[in-house]
Amino acid sequence: MDLFEYQARDLFEAYGVPVLPGIIADTPDEVRAAAEKLGGTVVVKAQVKVGGRGKAGGVKVVHNPDDAAAAAEHILGLDIKGHTVRRVMVAAGARIEREFYFSVLLDRANRSYLSLCSVEGGVEIEVLAVERPEALARIEVDPMEGIDEAKAAEIARAGGFPEDLIAKVAPVLAKLYEVYTGEDATLVEVNPLVLTEDGRIIALDGKVTIDENADFRHPGHAALEDAASADPLEEKAKAAGLNYVKLDGEVGVIGNGAGLVMSTLDVVAYAGEKHGGVKPANFLDIGGGASADVMAAGLDVILGDAQVKSVFVNVFGGITACDAVANGIVGALAKLGDSANKPLVVRLDGNNVEEGRRILNEAAHPLVTLADTMDIGADKAAQLAS
Ligand SMILES: Nc1ncnc2c1ncn2[C@@H]1O[C@H](COP(=O)(O)OP(=O)(O)OP(=O)(O)O)[C@@H](O)[C@H]1O
Ligand SMILES: [Mg+2]
Repeated sequence: MDLFEYQARDLFEAYGVPVLPGIIADTPDEVRAAAEKLGGTVVVKAQVKVGGRGKAGGVKVVHNPDDAAAAAEHILGLDIKGHTVRRVMVAAGARIEREFYFSVLLDRANRSYLSLCSVEGGVEIEVLAVERPEALARIEVDPMEGIDEAKAAEIARAGGFPEDLIAKVAPVLAKLYEVYTGEDATLVEVNPLVLTEDGRIIALDGKVTIDENADFRHPGHAALEDAASADPLEEKAKAAGLNYVKLDGEVGVIGNGAGLVMSTLDVVAYAGEKHGGVKPANFLDIGGGASADVMAAGLDVILGDAQVKSVFVNVFGGITACDAVANGIVGALAKLGDSANKPLVVRLDGNNVEEGRRILNEAAHPLVTLADTMDIGADKAAQLAS
């Protein structure tokens, strides 16, 4: 889960990383009040989970509350790379001497952590990495050792920090690493980390990604979730404990096992090309125990997607045999009643397949068509959707 800048700022503050005061606001009047409270120069900053806000006109430096409110009029509602700005943060203005870059992230390929650091911050780091890779230090961080002040000094030196700044910046980098491990983050990025005219090091912009697999260790993380911008179907699926990802298509997909579901998406997309370009509508893995309840919860989510025109249920019976899955489907349709209103193509194979097919044939539900193979099923479902 990516956090908003203001949430990153709050975490930084909690860990003792130097930040400037910031006040969250949803309307121009709230922005005016926030600017009055902070006094002097403030920065009105769009809160969206996408980079390049400044370039898109989402970061404005202003010198009085009226200008702050005017900036908010402009920024609220702005579309930044497909993200609508619903909130801004009013941050105290910094008098910036220099801008730096620092991040620490999970380096999956190397099964390690990686820190990136440069004295040339503030700019888009992707551009710097391509145009002047030598200006961006890449230092491996051993997860067992982490970033203490000595390691932080090594990173800062590699990033090109002058000697007189290293003692000042190292403790801040070490604190940022505490945020990274303390919150089970996979990314902590500060761009820019600044040196102010009065000689302070401050994190002016923060980006934090939290590893949701560790949520059980962080009851507080639930409060960081952005319910307003979450997809309502994904919310519903999450509440039902389902592994669901909404996609932009017409054929609902239910399968058991992530690999089978991924393949099903491919096969449906391929079949869809012959049927007016219909596409899979979602990823949904109902896992091992395809009981009636799980099947009903899955179908309920998929049928709630107005874009869906047909559903392809593709199950390979393993430990949960096909007869149990077939009973699950029959039970789910009975449970959903009239809200099950779109055609279902079912392909069963594997353990006890004959019995599974017999159960479905006997139930003879008007919406259900059986398919012998995955390809035939995908084709049928795509045809029905088109
Ligand atoms: N509190 C502040 N005081 C003074 N200047 C600021 C402040 N916050 C940001 N700035 C200036 O605005 C620039 C852009 O701000 P920021 O890094 O927060 O947004 P961004 O980089 O455009 O957005 P993103 O990080 O999403 O790409 C900074 O590099 C800095 O020069
Ligand atoms: Mg930035």
